[in-house]
Amino acid sequence: MFLAVLLTLHSWTRWAVVASLAVVLARSVRGWATGRPWTASDGGVARAWIGAMDLQLALGFTLYFVSSPIAEIARRDLREAWGAGDALRFFGVVHPAAMLVAVVIAHATWTWARRAELDRARFRRLALGGLATALLVALAIPWPSLSYGRPLVRP
Ligand code: HEM
Repeated sequence: MFLAVLLTLHSWTRWAVVASLAVVLARSVRGWATGRPWTASDGGVARAWIGAMDLQLALGFTLYFVSSPIAEIARRDLREAWGAGDALRFFGVVHPAAMLVAVVIAHATWTWARRAELDRARFRRLALGGLATALLVALAIPWPSLSYGRPLVRP
């Protein structure tokens, strides 16, 4: 029961991550290209994105260390998990590691952007760091077409 609730929350929060990141990217690329001034809403959207990443990280850690049966098997021996089939390798090693790096890049990006003195530089930093995060998240999502894929939406 706890596992089902966590998986559903983790699956939905994925869309909060993807949507907030898409808005951050669109606004920052436009801000960088046009040189428009930074506004309070730009900061609000960026903070919402970081908040969604942090929530997803907390849910992911709870899955990984508390309730996921597949992660429990993988955690016993990560080296063995790596060679024990696609699903174990993905959910036991690749997905947690890649997503952890993505969250670190997201935080570093936001800190880097806030330190920029010019608005255009802030948009550029957010666009570049946001793009790196987006690539990593896109590569590490268990898309339904993969052999170990999961549904796009959980009821
Ligand atoms: C931005 C970060 C993340 C995104 C977008 C994300 C996305 C997802 C998605 C879409 C699923 C499939 C859920 C389902 O079955 O419907 C999943 C599963 C899972 N995630 Fe994440 N995740 C993220 C971070 C993490 C982190 C940091 C960890 C661990 C430290 C983690 C651990 C897991 C585990 C263990 C599962 C599979 C659980 C199971 O089926 O037993 N995730 N993740």
